[in-house]
Amino acid sequence: MLDEIKSLENHIIGEVNAADSLEALDAVRVAALGKKGRITALMKNMGTFTPEERKEFGPLLNGLKNQIADILTARKDALEASALNTRLASETIDVTLPGIPRRDGTIHPISQVMDEIAEIFANMGFDVAEGPDLEDDFHNFSALNIPPEHPARQDHDTFYLKPDASGERKVLRTHTSPVQIRTMMSEEPPIRIIAPGRTYRSDSDATHTPMFHQVEGLVIDKETHLGHLKGTLEAFLKAFFEVDAVKIRLRSSYFPFTEPSMEVDVQCSFEGGALKIGEGSDWLEILGCGMVNRKVLEACNLDPSIYQGFAFGCGIDRLAMLKYGMNDLRAFFDSDQRWLKHYGFSPLNLPTLAGGLSR
Ligand code: PHE
Repeated sequence: MLDEIKSLENHIIGEVNAADSLEALDAVRVAALGKKGRITALMKNMGTFTPEERKEFGPLLNGLKNQIADILTARKDALEASALNTRLASETIDVTLPGIPRRDGTIHPISQVMDEIAEIFANMGFDVAEGPDLEDDFHNFSALNIPPEHPARQDHDTFYLKPDASGERKVLRTHTSPVQIRTMMSEEPPIRIIAPGRTYRSDSDATHTPMFHQVEGLVIDKETHLGHLKGTLEAFLKAFFEVDAVKIRLRSSYFPFTEPSMEVDVQCSFEGGALKIGEGSDWLEILGCGMVNRKVLEACNLDPSIYQGFAFGCGIDRLAMLKYGMNDLRAFFDSDQRWLKHYGFSPLNLPTLAGGLSR
């Protein structure tokens, strides 16, 4: 009997260790401890034992039963752990793989050009300033030396709102120059800002839309002169058009808020229908600028005997058209998916001077 118990023990331990799946292990358990299992059968047999035999083998059989139950549990835990590990290994994902883009939205060329401009001027120490689209007469006109009867008002094709209770008519700003006024009235010089944003004039053809975009530049300090203006514009245009050098030409002009006032042309060529900036013998008008008129400084409570500065204003849409080769401004605002896909920019490529503005 003793031998029988010993060999049963060895046999079952062998089977437990050989079971390589939870199903196989369960079969071993049923064959040993199930209703018709071999240990169960031996225990049932105890009825036929003499009292001495029962005393001797009873504890042995019980011990065997407990031992087998314990190793079955241990083996089960081990099999379950390895099943989990296999599953985890088969379900891993490589989080370093590039994502699969599910949308193909693009950055609008105007946003792109605004970002490019902000990047260039940030590198020259300019902050970005903003003002409201809906302006009052003071900021859009009077403080900029355009008094009520001034003929320049007619050039602006202004959108007026209905007068409010006090009789005041708000305007959709006709240029970004009111942000100059807001900045000079709220900040101490030295001032170095650009102000990009939406502007409005009642005008519509291939190069004009009623809503368009401008960027304003303003520098106010104690020793600011025309050389600074010219150098700043050259550095900007060179960086913006991503060329090694640009030649610019300053033509005298008139704006009520600058004195002297100038229009700026950049050197370009139109060979074979393709516009190239920075070479050739043609000139392209690109922006308006000048030294801030002392009347504007006075309207902003700055002393013109201490402070001077320069300002410039430039159409962003036009810059985008020139740089990226679109010929109809109206398409910018049509939301045509095909146009946006063709002319749009990747949202993941932010323009930087070091990494390239338009790459
Ligand atoms: N505000 C002018 C325009 O809209 C541009 C400009 C800005 C000119 C600043 C000179 C100085 O045409």
